[in-house]
Amino acid sequence: MKRIALLLVLCLTVCASAEKFKGLAPTPPMGWNSWNTFAMKIDENLVKETAEALIASGMRDAGYNYIVIDDGWEAMERDKQGNLVPDPNKFPGGMKALGDYLHSKGFKFGIHNCAGTKTCSGFPGGRGHEFQDAITYASWGVDYLKYDWCYHGTANAEETYRTMGNALYATGRPIVFSLCEWGSNKPWEWAQDIGHLWRTTGDITNCYDCQETYSLGWKYILKSQIGLEKYAGPDHWNDPDMLEVGNKGLTLAESRAHFSLWCIIAAPLMAGNDVRHMSNDVRDILTNKEVIAVDQDPLGKQGYQYMDHPGKQIWVKELSNGCWAVCFFNNSDEAVKLRINWANFPFLAGNYEIRDLWEKKNVGTTAKNFEGKVDPLDVILVKLTPVKKAEDSKK
Ligand code: GLA
Repeated sequence: MKRIALLLVLCLTVCASAEKFKGLAPTPPMGWNSWNTFAMKIDENLVKETAEALIASGMRDAGYNYIVIDDGWEAMERDKQGNLVPDPNKFPGGMKALGDYLHSKGFKFGIHNCAGTKTCSGFPGGRGHEFQDAITYASWGVDYLKYDWCYHGTANAEETYRTMGNALYATGRPIVFSLCEWGSNKPWEWAQDIGHLWRTTGDITNCYDCQETYSLGWKYILKSQIGLEKYAGPDHWNDPDMLEVGNKGLTLAESRAHFSLWCIIAAPLMAGNDVRHMSNDVRDILTNKEVIAVDQDPLGKQGYQYMDHPGKQIWVKELSNGCWAVCFFNNSDEAVKLRINWANFPFLAGNYEIRDLWEKKNVGTTAKNFEGKVDPLDVILVKLTPVKKAEDSKK
């Protein structure tokens, strides 16, 4: 009874307006999500082992602090009061205990559900239960909700997501709201005051150039981000989907390129690999602090494609303190030689020190042409720092 009265009060207070917790995602959220590698094969042990591996590998300390349990955590039915319940076999300790565990290890707790009547895998969805479910999530200590779009019927996306956003806000618990409606209704045009990030495409899959109805290689996702840069900023990010870095189907170079370009476009960095069993090379990609800093730059500007020559794509991102990140991406199947005359980058002003972020070394200044060789589906990623600033910081 008490619960129903509380629900009613919450709904009356906030149903009419749009509210979201501000300041929860000043830079794109980072973490790990179970879906890309494990799909429905998830349980409490996997989550705990993943948490341990994120700590041991240095990923947590590099910023990957949300652990998001995707589809497959629920029991097939709600309980008699209509509350969501976890699958008792997969999560015998319950979600509150798991949330407490994650918090005790310095993580934030993320969970998945769906704005439709069912999740894409057929578990209870949130439709018609938004305020009740938000209270449940808050009571479990959830910090991040990824909200999908399967089984939505004729529902209006903006209204539906607004209702869930309001429900989360009404709980009083700061919960990052991640809209996952695949860009179907252009959420970048209406979701700024509803959520903190929104998916822009269908699902990513573990390859560069492949395409199926519901899954896309990262080539296609990257292409469809062009033009979306103006919609992103602190607390409202385009989400080109989780990372496939380190997953079978991508060479190391492809993983490095995928990661670099996701950082250039200020993507949320949600690792999607089995971090318990990754190679040192994959770990080194995911934990390269200077590359992550491009993604997490406090200016909060999404980068954009500056040039699209075959084999010589150039992507750039404006950074704080007058700096820029520039990514040379070889999208061809032959190695290419670069000879870059910085005078062709009119947004640069003056001389800059160039740092190669994968080689981790300074490689001259923009006063001279920049030369390099890029292997197929690999990148050179550099940061440009105005010479004066670079000198000041050495003082
Ligand atoms: C959709 C989402 C994916 C994942 C699955 C789970 O396809 O886009 O990211 O959450 O649902 O079923």
